[in-house]
Amino acid sequence: MNEPILSLKGVSQIYTKRSAKGWRRVPVRAVDGVDLDIREGETLAIVGESGSGKSTLAKLLLMLNRPTQGQIAYRGLELDKLNHEWRSQYRRQVQAVFQDPSSSLNPRMTVEETLRHVANRHSLVTKLNQRDFLAAQLAAVGLNPPEQYFSRYPHQLSGGQQQRIAIARAIMLRPRVIIADEPLSSLDVSVQAQILQLMSDLRATTNVGFVIISHDLGAMQSIADRSAVMYRGRVVEIGDAIYQSPAHPYTRLLLDARLLPNPRGTRVRSPPPKQAAPFASVETTQGCRFLHRCPHAIEICAAIDPQLRPLGLGATQVACHRAEELSAATTPV
Ligand SMILES: Nc1ncnc2c1ncn2[C@@H]1O[C@H](COP(=O)(O)OP(=O)(O)OP(=O)(O)O)[C@@H](O)[C@H]1O
Ligand SMILES: [Mg+2]
Repeated sequence: MNEPILSLKGVSQIYTKRSAKGWRRVPVRAVDGVDLDIREGETLAIVGESGSGKSTLAKLLLMLNRPTQGQIAYRGLELDKLNHEWRSQYRRQVQAVFQDPSSSLNPRMTVEETLRHVANRHSLVTKLNQRDFLAAQLAAVGLNPPEQYFSRYPHQLSGGQQQRIAIARAIMLRPRVIIADEPLSSLDVSVQAQILQLMSDLRATTNVGFVIISHDLGAMQSIADRSAVMYRGRVVEIGDAIYQSPAHPYTRLLLDARLLPNPRGTRVRSPPPKQAAPFASVETTQGCRFLHRCPHAIEICAAIDPQLRPLGLGATQVACHRAEELSAATTPV
């Protein structure tokens, strides 16, 4: 449970995009110097507002992107040094589940063809036992009786059933980690709870770990062992009690935002600070990136970029110069 299966050291992903006037390309640090250990069998939530780099981090973990800087290691082996055999093992052991199952499933393939395609490609089972094997995969994701689903196309399934197929397709390879980018946000609320329950059951039966990216802090509080909060490409807080005792002012802001009506349904946008930030107007390229929104910023925050560090004796790590005093303060932020 405690060994890191994936470990990121100083990982950055720098994209370029056209400047506002369109005549120059400017760098976008989508992920910016992330250090993170993902432990075997844990459920790790990644939360943060839109554009904070969560999906880019998922793409890096899935080897869909190569980091511009830094290293990702799998069981201590750096990904860009894996030989062909290890690379294909990695692709089996680290699986993906995406937000919209209707676009991640081939519309022209029946459920049986979708699963059989993966079983054949990875030689998971002999032809003789194939149908029983595929039926067992459907049963494992709660699609019973399995025969009823074999000949259906994705458009003949509900969103929740489609997501179950996407999960079956991932889980049949017996992965050690599933990276799920917003797996709930295209589903109805009641179905979201069922998919969360399925993930938690699969974890109990197979010890697979999950990295779940989500805007739904309530759902993540109920399922995650630990949660990492991202802000502008950085992990600013990570721990097992961030919902009960948030240490970073941005985590508190996110938790406050959870109480606000959310016009777009799936996106959490944090509210403006409750009081004017004393250092909001300071021009700096070296200080804390949350400076301009932080009601607690002081001089050091404009001068030194805070690094992730342990807070007290607990499991929380936080990138805030004032975390100790703010955590000790009794008045809510
Ligand atoms: N291919 C790309 N080229 C250029 N910029 C990109 C690219 N992909 C993402 N970005 C930028 O990188 C930043 C992080 O994007 P990312 O999709 O990782 O955020 P996110 O946290 O997943 O957001 P959301 O919650 O909206 O899904 C954003 O500023 C985004 O505009
Ligand atoms: Mg995203």
